[in-house]
Amino acid sequence: MSQTTFTPRVFSGIQPSGGLTLGNYLGAIKRFVSMQEEDFETIYCMVDLHAITAKLIDPSELRHNTRELAAGFIASGISPDKSILINQSQVPEHAQLAWIFNCIARMGWMGRMTQWKDKAGKNAEAASLGLFAYPALMAADILIYHATHVPVGEDQKQHLELTRDIAAKFNHDYGEEFFPITEPVIEGAATRVMSLRDGSKKMSKSDPSDASRINMTDDADTISRKIRKAKTDPDALPSALEGLDHRPEARNLVSIYAALNDQSLEEVLRDVGGQQFGTFKPALAELAVEKLAPISSEMARLMADTDEIDRILAKGAAQAREITAPILKRTYDLIGMVS
Ligand code: AMP
Ligand code: TRP
Repeated sequence: MSQTTFTPRVFSGIQPSGGLTLGNYLGAIKRFVSMQEEDFETIYCMVDLHAITAKLIDPSELRHNTRELAAGFIASGISPDKSILINQSQVPEHAQLAWIFNCIARMGWMGRMTQWKDKAGKNAEAASLGLFAYPALMAADILIYHATHVPVGEDQKQHLELTRDIAAKFNHDYGEEFFPITEPVIEGAATRVMSLRDGSKKMSKSDPSDASRINMTDDADTISRKIRKAKTDPDALPSALEGLDHRPEARNLVSIYAALNDQSLEEVLRDVGGQQFGTFKPALAELAVEKLAPISSEMARLMADTDEIDRILAKGAAQAREITAPILKRTYDLIGMVS
């Protein structure tokens, strides 16, 4: 196969399924922001087509969630001048390439996805076909840009492996190194932020307990209260990493502190080792409020005039299609579709 060099390009997406959490911010968005400053073209996406796979959402709520997510991206520091910011359904080539990938991916590959198994639960017969095909759409999101790097949290690793398998099979079947074999970027002190109520569960917007998570729209008092009430154990904090073994709640709070303060876990433990949670929690609450309050107030400002958001998304979609339309055209040509 011929060697192809691909433009260093970052793509990532988040579902507008309602409410951004600290997990999304530390696991994904913070990295999205820093990658804008590196040698990459960056494209960030509200994946609204993915958001309807688990269950249908009230239409006005979906529109609200999509705009609020865009506001969250912008308020966190994603600049529409440095990155292309899009809503998935406004760039039709995502869904068009997804169909091709539905014909490349095998049922067996999809059936092994742990997220599918978790979300479909015991009643897979009642799950939508879209939920099963979800990872093929995700592969299309990435590969319709020939993206080379994808920053995500730990939970998306298996979907990115599938994306690589789909690219490799397509390239093999059509005898050309057409799609890049994308690199996952899973980095930072908090690639898996856990629930504040249970250190063995991921912090998630779908957890029934609001106390389990920090929402990006929470005000300062709410953030402080949730951190003060977070589950912990009775021991003091250790000064070395091994001391966090078998202490998931302690590890989680230290990881959150480290990620918010751009430090490593070791650095934080050097400073806080020996402290009781009664001392550490107020310091963590203060840091969280300092970092998150400006983001939530900027989100509120942007949501007061959604025309500005809509203009940014329309501009993003036009820029995106300059990349996606030729890639879809070449894909169709390779497959043998008459154009
Ligand atoms: P989602 O909200 O499921 O669309 O996730 C969007 C992005 O946030 C993905 O890159 C996830 O891996 C990341 N993410 C979601 N929850 C967490 C968490 N608790 N810890 C770290 N990253 C997360
Ligand atoms: N599946 C991802 C999640 O739930 C969201 C997503 C869709 C995505 N398409 C993507 C992430 C492409 C990265 C790249 O978090």
